[in-house]
This record gives sequence, structure tokens and C-alpha cells, in this order.
Amino acid sequence: MRLSVIGCGYLGAVHAACMADLGHYVVGVDVDPRRVEALSAGQPPFHEPGYTNLLRRALDSGRLEFSTDISAAKGAEVHFVCVGTPQAADGPGADLTYIHQAFTGLAQVLEPSDEAVVVGKSTVPVGTAVGLALEMEQAGGRLIWNPEFLREGYAVRDTLTPDRIVYGIRGGPDGEGAAAVLDDVYRDQLRRGIPRITTDFATAELVKVSANAFLATKISFINAVAEICEVTGANVSELARLIGLDERIGKKFLQAGVGFGGGCLPKDLRAFAARAEELGRGESVRLFHEVDKINQRRRDRVVHLVHEVLGDKITGAKVAILGAAFKPHSDDLRDSPAVEVALRVQALGARVVVTDPVALDKLAALHPNLERAKTLPDAMTDADLIVLVTEWREYVTIDPHDAGAIVRARNVIDGRNVLNPSQWREAGWAYYGLGRC
Ligand code: UGA
Repeated sequence: MRLSVIGCGYLGAVHAACMADLGHYVVGVDVDPRRVEALSAGQPPFHEPGYTNLLRRALDSGRLEFSTDISAAKGAEVHFVCVGTPQAADGPGADLTYIHQAFTGLAQVLEPSDEAVVVGKSTVPVGTAVGLALEMEQAGGRLIWNPEFLREGYAVRDTLTPDRIVYGIRGGPDGEGAAAVLDDVYRDQLRRGIPRITTDFATAELVKVSANAFLATKISFINAVAEICEVTGANVSELARLIGLDERIGKKFLQAGVGFGGGCLPKDLRAFAARAEELGRGESVRLFHEVDKINQRRRDRVVHLVHEVLGDKITGAKVAILGAAFKPHSDDLRDSPAVEVALRVQALGARVVVTDPVALDKLAALHPNLERAKTLPDAMTDADLIVLVTEWREYVTIDPHDAGAIVRARNVIDGRNVLNPSQWREAGWAYYGLGRC
């Protein structure tokens, strides 16, 4: 089938290449010429395992191209809208500028005779799709809201093998006809038995933000318990394992530490709460404000720990920050706890040196005043304190004896509770976890 993908950020660039890999002809459209140039040359503008090969294979097949011109989308049977919906600059709600630009652009290229299907994949506040559906109908298109649940670091796998495929459609034969067209796009996934559920627009929009709000709540729940562990001497890692043995609770997303970041969980949580306020239901989502506050407090806790450990020797002390990205297998620095901790510790007067296997170039562009070390040993040499904030495998597996030989002082803050405290203590380190002694 002929498809267009409007917006080639994380979601769109991966979606476009995956769809081409499934055999469709895809044009990816983005307003950023540098992004289009890079993608066209097989150079992903972000780090995502498995993506470079997939992108190059799709380009070589001749089924994938990129353009800055929306008219390149003309004639596609299905148009996917994958633009970003960041947090607004002046408040907690979502900024829908790119959504409106994308739909206005599409309205100009749709021909009523094409009977094209427009598929919204971006994360939007509930109630957005119904208005866009009208806009598309007037232009001759039919809208489906098809939220995306991919995780960075597993984006290719999650796109090709999602847990579920959700279609928000308008009831009646038009909606069902559009769903049948989208079924043809996802033929491969549907044949493999991936559940496909049809619902209304509002439910489809809410599934996405509710899923992210739930994940954020789970993380903040265990981090709130970690705060209690800190004053009682209990061990939050042990506790999470024990409550997780109850199948109703489950063990995933109960890793206590410096908390969640990234371009999705924090902004989706805030946008959900802001939308609920607009709907006169602020009371219903009061919990989300607490979830956000608990998450922020974990960053404060790490910064306070640094202060506690270094005391009045903090000025000029070398602090090695292990990790810059908001999570491993990604170079995404959006709302990264690691970056916030690094900047705040630097502001306290320490000499902060950040290392990360893949995110240093982006860090240099965003925060040129943060000192960077290309390798882990460079970061740790002569350090007075090591702070692990992103659990890259090479940091989790550091040998405390080897590290102890190159640092100036054996102090480690384990911001993700991933190191073995007794091993580190036996090697002579002062070990500080978050919610475990
Ligand atoms: C998240 C969701 O997991 C995806 O399902 C969703 O599609 C995506 O947002 C999105 O809206 O696009 P992602 O932002 O890639 O995906 O990251 P997660 O794997 O959810 O991790 C988010 C943050 O939570 C990270 O900073 C991670 O370190 C932290 N985290 C995760 C914890 O602190 N503890 C945990 O137990 C798990």
C-alpha cells in the first residue's frame, strides 16, 4: 500500500521504516530539512537499537523516502500523523501546534476521490480527535485514532510486535470501512494474532495517557515507599521483589531510584491532569500531581545525598555522573533525571564530569558547560564521588575493586539501586542507595 507518515521524530521515523519493512511504499514528511536529509542518508537522528539497519534496508528496498514537502504525501491510501505533542511552554498542558499544522497540511493534499484514511498516532488530550475527524471529513478523509505504545530502546520491536492495536473510530459503516483499510496495513501483525480492539475516539485517546499515567504512578508509588524505607532502615529493592510476587501487583515498573524522565511519562502525566482540569474534573486526577511531586523529590534526594557525602568539601570536588540519557539504550535527554542532577550538583560548586555511552554529543549541544568524559575510566579517575543515574550495563557491572583503584575517594551513590551494596562495601566503598541502606 502507499502510505505517508507526517512527522519523523522518534515515533514517525521508526513507524515509517517499519511499515516499509512490511512491504508498503512509504513517504516520511518532516518540516526539519536536516532530519529529512539525515534519514534519507540512512543516518538516524537518535540512538535506537536495531534502527539503523532497518532504516538502511528500507531505503535500499526503494520503498522508503523522506521529504520536507507535504505534497509528497499526495495519493497515499493511508496517512499516519506522528508529530510531537510536547508540554506547552507556558503551562502543564500539551502543545498541539504540530498536530494542527499536520492536519491543515493534510487537508490540502487530500482528494475526496482518494477516500484516504488518516491515522492519528500522536498522544493527544482526550477530545482532540473528534474535532480533527470533522476537519478530515470536510477534506474527504476518514480519521482513525490509533495510539502508539512503543518504548524507546525497544521501538522497532514494539512497533512490529505491539501488545495490542487500538483503533478509535467513529461508529457506523464509514468507521468500519476505514478500519478495514488499516487492517490491510497491519495485515502482518494481525495474522500473527496481535489483539486489535476497536473503540470510540475518546477511549482510544485515553488508553494512551492512562497507560502512561499508570506506569508513572507505579514508579512513584515505589519511590514513595522508598522514602519510608530511608527513615526505617528497610530495603525497598527487597520489598519491591516481595510485593511483586503477588501476580496482581507484578514486579515490573517497581524499580525504585531517581525516578522517571523522558519525553513521554512526565509530559503525558501533566497534560492528562491539565485536560481533566479543563473538563472540570481536576479532583479526579489530584493523584497525578502527587506522582509528579514524588518523582521530583527523588531528584532532590540525590542532590542532597551528594551534599551530605561531600559536605563542605563540595567546592571543586570531582563528581562523576554515570549516565546522561533518561534511560539506557537511548540518547534521549528530554527531562532526564541524570542531566538535572548533573546541573544541580555543578551549581553547588562541584566539578561535575558526565559520561554516557551514546548521549554525549547531544549533551554537548544542549549543555556545553557540562564537562564530559568519553570513557568510564576517564570519568572516574580521581573522582571524589560516583553517582550512577542511568543503568547502562557497563555501569551496573563496574568492578568496585578496579574502580576503587582509580578514584580519589570511594563514595558511590546508586541512583538506580542496581549495584550490589555488600560487594561495594567489602571493596571499601561508602555506598548510598535510594531506599536501601
Ligand atoms: C513510555 C511508555 O513505557 C511507553 O509504553 C510509551 O509508548 C512511551 O512512554 C510513549 O508515550 O511514547 P519510554 O518513555 O520509552 O516509554 O520509557 P519507559 O521505559 O516507560 O521509562 C520511563 C522512565 O521511567 C525512565 O526514566 C525509567 O528509568 C523510569 N523507570 C522505569 C523507573 O524509574 N523505574 C521503573 O521501574 C521503570
